[in-house]
Amino acid sequence: MNATINLEKEHFPVLLDELISIISPLYGGSFIDCTFGHGGYSKKILENKSNKVFAIDRDLKSLKIAEKLKKQFINRLNFEINTFSKIGNIKIEKKNIKAIIFDLGYSLSQIKDPTKGLSFNHKGKLNMKMGLNNYSAHEVINNLSEDSLIKVFKTFGEEKMSKKIAKKIIIEREKKNILNEDLVKIIDEVKKFRKTKVHNSTKIFQSLRIFVNKEISELIYGLINSFKILPTGSIIAVITFHSIEDKIVKFFFRHYSEDKKTSRYLPDQKSPNKLFKLIKKKPILPSLSEISKNPSSRSAKLRYGIKINNTNNFEEFLNKFKYLIEIENLSKKLWKKFIL
Ligand SMILES: C[S@@+](CC[C@H](N)C(=O)[O-])C[C@H]1O[C@@H](n2cnc3c(N)ncnc32)[C@H](O)[C@@H]1O
Repeated sequence: MNATINLEKEHFPVLLDELISIISPLYGGSFIDCTFGHGGYSKKILENKSNKVFAIDRDLKSLKIAEKLKKQFINRLNFEINTFSKIGNIKIEKKNIKAIIFDLGYSLSQIKDPTKGLSFNHKGKLNMKMGLNNYSAHEVINNLSEDSLIKVFKTFGEEKMSKKIAKKIIIEREKKNILNEDLVKIIDEVKKFRKTKVHNSTKIFQSLRIFVNKEISELIYGLINSFKILPTGSIIAVITFHSIEDKIVKFFFRHYSEDKKTSRYLPDQKSPNKLFKLIKKKPILPSLSEISKNPSSRSAKLRYGIKINNTNNFEEFLNKFKYLIEIENLSKKLWKKFIL
């Protein structure tokens, strides 16, 4: 059986060897796995008997996997269903934390899970809730204003035909609620059933998934709040899968690891704002052999930094990506309508 077919049944943690060699779990300590999933990284870390893992996942389905691993690694795995932006509220033994890991995105089993409705082939109500959400893609498509839909599609999907697609959605939803299959049809019609390598609906579906799960705010506050609980000397490692995520992570590490000039007339000074030591400026990418075994790893990028200073001031980071957070916050109107 070839490895790609095998992937349907198995979960391959992306860049596992590269990540493990960076966080050095051989030396013993506590590790935080913010995206537990199938527990691939946690399991590898726990192979060293002196390691502990605090793990988080927003998807309730991870709980069963965590319960099983807890029996295998008694008293060394703690697991909580939560979103990683809330890491500051989670009870974690801060002593001896060596590293925190984010393996962003979703596993193949989640993408194929019909109850999550991430697939273009799913029939029925749109969903895309990955856990702990306030609203679904059904509410977004059937209620968000035309202008807001355009912003979501353009910014989170980089979809060139955002305006035309949003316009057609508004016309069609006057007749009846738009279901998954209707949305795929609308996009196909606007794109005139163009056949390309990438499915016509990919960009719109990505933008909706980001919006429904507030993936941008999750990432930004996940990075800030995890930084706050880490001792200096520990590592933050992040694996991204799409360009918006990578832009955010790249800025976070690069911006806070550069010496800043206080005046252009003065020589460079060691800046107190320097928060990270970066061993590598460029991201680590999967090897050709990993990509051939697991083609979906091809867009993965691993970046990491070692915390060297403390701060509570992330204003520059927040300002840089304020426009993205504001688009996600367009949802506030929605959940007021459905939740309150
Ligand atoms: C790519 S999978 C991780 C796979 C994992 N490294 C493994 O080896 O099994 C990403 C996981 O992160 C979870 N996730 C995504 N966004 C999250 C968030 N904001 N908070 C908590 N978990 C999140 C998803 O539910 C998914 O299980």
